[in-house]
Amino acid sequence: MDNEARISISIVHYPLFIMSVLITPSILSADFGHLQDEVDSIVSADWLHLDVMDGHFVPNLSFGFPVVKGIETKLKLDTHLMVNNPADRIEQFASIHSYNITFHAEAVQETRARRALIDAIRKTSATAGIALNPGTPLSAIDDVVGDVDMVLVMSVNPGFGGQKFMPEVLSKIRELRKKFPRLMIQIDGGIDTKTAPLALEAGADNLVAGNAIFSAKDRAAAIKALRS
Ligand code: DX5
Ligand code: ZN
Repeated sequence: MDNEARISISIVHYPLFIMSVLITPSILSADFGHLQDEVDSIVSADWLHLDVMDGHFVPNLSFGFPVVKGIETKLKLDTHLMVNNPADRIEQFASIHSYNITFHAEAVQETRARRALIDAIRKTSATAGIALNPGTPLSAIDDVVGDVDMVLVMSVNPGFGGQKFMPEVLSKIRELRKKFPRLMIQIDGGIDTKTAPLALEAGADNLVAGNAIFSAKDRAAAIKALRS
């Protein structure tokens, strides 16, 4: 094979834009009696997802700052605020060096309040994400989608781990990816080895998984399986 032939083959076989996927285990499904051991079992992941609930925005309570402040990890902390007043929580989660903080579009609806919150999050040197419930259209974040670092597309109604994936949210991911080729798009809810390829194909590049990782005996294998 001459050089010219080699070059044309490599062009055919290598995609121009290789998107790498981040795996973000949600400790909502972890054993809280052995939280540090659970965190130590997922070191091959990328981020660590903290699901914070207030019993109002979602019909459930999970854990707050006092429970997670002692966690020791090199993973990047990703705080998902499922609360009515996310502004009240920024300081706490910034104090444990949260790498990303996401608030819900449904909880903060005014553009001015959204912008103020995004600024407040960035002032802590965290990145800012905005989350959409399955029933919330993309148009609900038209005002700030160009300002955030990440959009979280929920693929279950928030509040509980272990729910069934809602494939109808994939069209939102497709549309977002088309409009914003470089935006980080996280998907959260019902992600496992069957649904992860659908999410990736639609354009998600950050997969949150609770049950699929913490119900597996071999956590590293479960994380690896989600990457491929
Ligand atoms: C749901 C949470 C999710 C949940 C995902 O309200 O935001 O992060 O822990 O859990 P699985 O992957 O089990 O659906
Ligand atoms: Zn979450």
